[in-house]
Amino acid sequence: MRITVRVIGIGPGGPRQITLEAIDAMADVDAFVVLDKGTAKDDLRQARRDIVDRYAPGRNVIELVDPPRDRHPADYDAEVRRWHEARAELIAAALTDSLTDGGVAAFLVWGDPALYDSTLRIVDDLARRPGLDLDVEVIPGVTSASALTAAHAITANRIGEPIHITTGRRLADTPAGADSNQMVMLDGELAFRQTADADDHIWWGAYLGTDDQVLISGRVGDVADEIAAVRAEARARIGWIMDIYLLRKPSNS
Ligand SMILES: C[S@@+](CC[C@H](N)C(=O)[O-])C[C@H]1O[C@@H](n2cnc3c(N)ncnc32)[C@H](O)[C@@H]1O
Repeated sequence: MRITVRVIGIGPGGPRQITLEAIDAMADVDAFVVLDKGTAKDDLRQARRDIVDRYAPGRNVIELVDPPRDRHPADYDAEVRRWHEARAELIAAALTDSLTDGGVAAFLVWGDPALYDSTLRIVDDLARRPGLDLDVEVIPGVTSASALTAAHAITANRIGEPIHITTGRRLADTPAGADSNQMVMLDGELAFRQTADADDHIWWGAYLGTDDQVLISGRVGDVADEIAAVRAEARARIGWIMDIYLLRKPSNS
């Protein structure tokens, strides 16, 4: 069975941060695949449904419940691979049930599909399955990193400097010399409080592009506690949080 699979970046949450290319790519989709990650992220699932209702009304939306995942495994990489394989199996079955030969399926991906997102890996796993012949198309999206720098009206680097993009889990591993500008994602623990110097500058943003957007910036020594308090309060009130920050060393260090 031959299927076109479109992986469409939809931006980091703001309904106006979707590109015209993404909207065009939704026009002839037969089925959208939405993975339900659990109740805490219901708002995010709903945001994807709202996009389908707005730009491809009436189209089939296949909602799948994500297979369970061990969050603290002994072997992290092996557990992630096992989880991706389980997801691919679930999606392959849903696609063969709901599409005919020549059909078009789409995944709506938060931000851009190339940045800390597993959809393209899942699609690779799908493509390896017998009986499915996939044409894969990727539509880029606005990343949360661009939404952060735009919201603060800053550049991600000073002239000629590198930018290191990493996660909270790996922040402490940033190599010496690569820490002049660090863009940190997926950080539930605000790891910068362990790694940054008080004189480093931080630009932090949560719920970027949405009505709940919050921005804080300043010297780490001055704003770290405020970021932690605002983050904890927003997370408790809304039920989930997505935040990102840029850390910058003072220019003379
Ligand atoms: C799984 S990654 C997906 C990143 C996405 N593919 C992108 O291009 O931005 C999720 C992380 O992206 C960041 N993120 C995504 N959307 C965001 C938003 N609206 N506001 C702040 N951070 C966001 C957070 O760091 C979050 O933990």
